[in-house]
Amino acid sequence: MKLDRRQFANLGAASVAGLLSQKLWAEQTRVAASAENFYFAMIADTHIIDTFYVKGSENGVEDNTTILQTTDHLTFTRSVINAIKLPNGQTVERTFLVGDVFHNYPSPDYDFYFKNRTRLDNAADLLAGFNMPVHAGWGNHDYEGNPTRGITREFSHRLFEAKFKAKPYYAIDYKGFRFLHLNNFLGSTWDEKGDPRARQYGSLGEEQLNWAEAQLHDRKPTLVFVHYPLWVVRPTEVQDYGLHPLLRKYQDNIQIIISGHWHKWIDFAHTYGAQHTVMGSTRYDQNSFMLMQADPRKGTVRWVDSTRPLWSTHYATPYKQS
Ligand SMILES: [Fe+2]
Repeated sequence: MKLDRRQFANLGAASVAGLLSQKLWAEQTRVAASAENFYFAMIADTHIIDTFYVKGSENGVEDNTTILQTTDHLTFTRSVINAIKLPNGQTVERTFLVGDVFHNYPSPDYDFYFKNRTRLDNAADLLAGFNMPVHAGWGNHDYEGNPTRGITREFSHRLFEAKFKAKPYYAIDYKGFRFLHLNNFLGSTWDEKGDPRARQYGSLGEEQLNWAEAQLHDRKPTLVFVHYPLWVVRPTEVQDYGLHPLLRKYQDNIQIIISGHWHKWIDFAHTYGAQHTVMGSTRYDQNSFMLMQADPRKGTVRWVDSTRPLWSTHYATPYKQS
């Protein structure tokens, strides 16, 4: 039964109670409230390879085994995320990938990537098979680890944008929330002429920090994604200015800070202000993803399947459709 506004106004409270049972009211209220919420998924460290990949290039048995499983794992994760149906019939509307989209560069020749089908094309096709837009951020393996090969950051940026339509760092505004993909490979620790040992630490560079501050200054409910866990990101870069104090300054607006890189589930809780979670990778475990519910009216985010991670390991229990 549907009432227009005039009909509704003409009805007294008692009549309304008579027409609509308590149950119907509850159901209508539930649908109205839940319709405003939306769901998004998080994945990390997909490490996709191709036929140019040389087997046995990694360190240790586990790394050498899992690198050959990355396509199968991501395909499985994708099928689960695509099939998620929330109790109110909603599906996942966005997925965010926190870096290491593909695994290293098979060639230092830019044209090679347009004459051959490579791991970047494989990754782009896998991401295109999600039922919702996938927004990819940057990991260390999306850059070249060996400075002597001549693959510059500019080379990577140009190629990544050509294949994944994404800038080195960017913001997505969606239904009142701001999703920030930060890039911890643009500061001094990753300078091409710098000491390669410094690369174990991330840094953003002043230009990106200024951009991030402007994004946070808008005080929208914000989610921050950065590949390196904050534990290994330089706290400050220009005097007392840096990512750590910035995140603290705006902690009331940040719902969660999510990283990858360690391929393990680590909970830093509020060590850096807002909740900081390091998530497992699809490379090591196809069950490693996160399902989040966002409430635009409250500006809050809830981690729906937060009981699945096996903390301090690569693994999570399978997602079960409720
Ligand atoms: Fe990784």
